[in-house]
Amino acid sequence: MIIPRPVELTVRPGEFVIPAALHLSSGPGATRAADLLAGYLGDRPRASEGPIVRLEIAPDELPYEGYRLEISPAEVVLSAPGEEGLFHGVQTLRQLLPPAALEPASAPPDAWRWPCVTVRDAPRLPWRGVMLDVARHYLPPEFLEEFIDRIALHKLNVLHLHLTDDQGWRIEIEGLPRLTEVGAWRTESMVGPAGSTRFDGIPHGGFYSQRRLRDLVAYASRRGVTVVPEIEMPGHARALLAAYPHLGNRAEVSLPVWTSWGISEDILGVHDEALEFCRTVLAQTVAVFPSRYVHIGGDECPTTQWETSPVARRRIEELGFTTPAQLHGWFLRQMQETLAEHGRRAICWDEAEQNGDLPAEMTLTAWRDPAHGVGSVERGHQVIMAPHRTTYLNYAQSTHPGEPPAPPNVTTTIADVYGFDPLAGGLPVAGGNRPGVLGIQAQLWTEFVPTPDHVRYLTFPRLCALAEVAWSEGGRDYEEFRGRLKAHRERLRVLGALRALDTA
Ligand code: ACM
Repeated sequence: MIIPRPVELTVRPGEFVIPAALHLSSGPGATRAADLLAGYLGDRPRASEGPIVRLEIAPDELPYEGYRLEISPAEVVLSAPGEEGLFHGVQTLRQLLPPAALEPASAPPDAWRWPCVTVRDAPRLPWRGVMLDVARHYLPPEFLEEFIDRIALHKLNVLHLHLTDDQGWRIEIEGLPRLTEVGAWRTESMVGPAGSTRFDGIPHGGFYSQRRLRDLVAYASRRGVTVVPEIEMPGHARALLAAYPHLGNRAEVSLPVWTSWGISEDILGVHDEALEFCRTVLAQTVAVFPSRYVHIGGDECPTTQWETSPVARRRIEELGFTTPAQLHGWFLRQMQETLAEHGRRAICWDEAEQNGDLPAEMTLTAWRDPAHGVGSVERGHQVIMAPHRTTYLNYAQSTHPGEPPAPPNVTTTIADVYGFDPLAGGLPVAGGNRPGVLGIQAQLWTEFVPTPDHVRYLTFPRLCALAEVAWSEGGRDYEEFRGRLKAHRERLRVLGALRALDTA
């Protein structure tokens, strides 16, 4: 009943009863995974004898993230070639507990047991991500921690945080105080989709200090989850332009942090100061987030203001370009090079590729139709498959009239998520610097999603289906998955991840 389905799992008779005092042994490199497991078991006192739970790093032909688990009545052995594998094995141990044990504080004494099993397991794809938009609605860091823990439960390994957009700037940047004093707050929010004329009249905002973000990164790291920050540019920039109007194309116009949804023509300028601003922000961002990858946005960037801006015209001439649209790719290339100087790799939303050649080193999040992602792989990129019809969890999950407000005229069911194959047509998995599919990612945009409960509602159980697509090899049987999901829902319920609106 494990989700995502392991490569091999054999159940044998018998069980391992977890004693009141835990005999836990962790070899070199296994301490953090052992601590995580001990926390899931209610941080009980430790013993130095009795039935033992052993975690160890051991050479194996399994990939780095793989693990082996052997549970017998007297001993539990979790071994892996790397720490990531141990973290995943710990999550399997967590799912093998009776669901009542998932809330250790209220678990009855007889919940502490594991069935005897043999597991050999490893992921299908290296990038198994979820994007959460904390720009449209600020979400409290305590909730982000809960969210990270639930991601880890499903062996997903990336939380992509969309930290900046037209409607809010959420990351503290030293030396640029107005980003959070001004850019983090809006006077009200649009009610309904882009183009609506209704507003709620309720101020909204919030931001994360660098110290709090470092804590979040550490919390995620203790679960094998990498937090990948996104600083959106050169479009979706109205919050920063509200703070620093001279970074745009109309310094004389005072723009508020945007209260509408949609695509704004007010984007960053292409003058040196705008580029320097982005470099300053990225330098501080990489100092907070140790992730190999940093996302620089790049989507939905109308270049109309660059057509008339004298600064942009000069830049076009200086670069020998023929159209303002070429500045879009150029802008992103500058920032890709900046990140490379910091030893990092840049990611952008894939549509930026259409406005100028992006270097092969740029990883792309392919959010439109999957064919765009296929094209990007063919042109030599590493691609994270994120096609909106099957991975946008902000879309309604059914046509049920009780569904909360969501983008109009589109639904993404559990079956839709489960049915998408990111490697369809025989696409290769990316590795090293080789082009291919790096992985798959769920997106949760929050224009319609103001609260943690609403995020929980939209995320589960659809994210469980995405996790299985990301982790488990093909040969999918949706009915068989639904059977496991039924049992898994009990775990989600105990964890408070399922909300009453769940009609699926
Ligand atoms: C996107 O949905 N604009 C990435």
